[in-house]
Amino acid sequence: MEKRQELYHGKAKTVYTTDDPKVLVMHYRDDVSAFDGAKLAKLERKGETNNKFNAFIMGKLAAAGVPTHFVRLINERESLVRAMKMIPVECVVRNICAGSMAKRYGIEEGTRLPEPIFEFFLKSDPLHDPLVNDDHIRVLGWATVSEIGEMKALTHKVNAVLTPLFAKAEIDLVDYKLEFGHPVDDVGGPLVLGDEFTPDGCRLWDHGTHDKMDKDRFRRDLGSVIEKYREVAQRIGAPM
Ligand code: TMP
Ligand code: ASP
Repeated sequence: MEKRQELYHGKAKTVYTTDDPKVLVMHYRDDVSAFDGAKLAKLERKGETNNKFNAFIMGKLAAAGVPTHFVRLINERESLVRAMKMIPVECVVRNICAGSMAKRYGIEEGTRLPEPIFEFFLKSDPLHDPLVNDDHIRVLGWATVSEIGEMKALTHKVNAVLTPLFAKAEIDLVDYKLEFGHPVDDVGGPLVLGDEFTPDGCRLWDHGTHDKMDKDRFRRDLGSVIEKYREVAQRIGAPM
């Protein structure tokens, strides 16, 4: 596999083409962004930490039967992934009310939900990722009815795998965001999990102390961001 030119420069990752059109190189940079790019910084060791964290989680999900785009780690900061045609929506599941849901409905952060709540957001920084419903997605053509069903089922399945994985490490999986797509060499096939699962895209609270161990440390200027990401990795047994 030979790495070729830059295809996409995101807020925290850069994607490169390879000599094989079916696979891409995902490079995790040290950049961190919050509030849709309004707050930016660099955090030492973030790239390698998230690359390895994501590899561990994707491995657990694949083993549990969730199809993912992850192929293998290439080096400290890079992973090989299947090239995907992504659906432009973000899938969020919440186990505990926090963040935008707490603000939107005036519910206290930390309120445990009697069952997980699923939400769709449109992926758009200029629009600040607005909440959308199934009809918006279907009628505006972002995804089909069956893709909507697949996204919900897979996002809930991820919850069933990851909630106990974090719970064993005395960490609450509060909420998380996933993105799905179709591999470019199988656009008619089943949906596949893309992007990443790292502490950048979820909320993780220490079960006993409620200490935040995710990107809210950066959003809310709490400090020790990567130290906490690495503590999570160590507690769940993700090799760093
Ligand atoms: P929210 O409370 O801001 O809606 O976010 C819910 C969860 O989804 C939280 O863990 C952060 C994650 N998320 C992202 O990583 N990126 C996004 O663009 C959105 C909307 C949420
Ligand atoms: N992921 C978005 C950003 O990078 C939103 C956020 O995390 O606050 O800006």
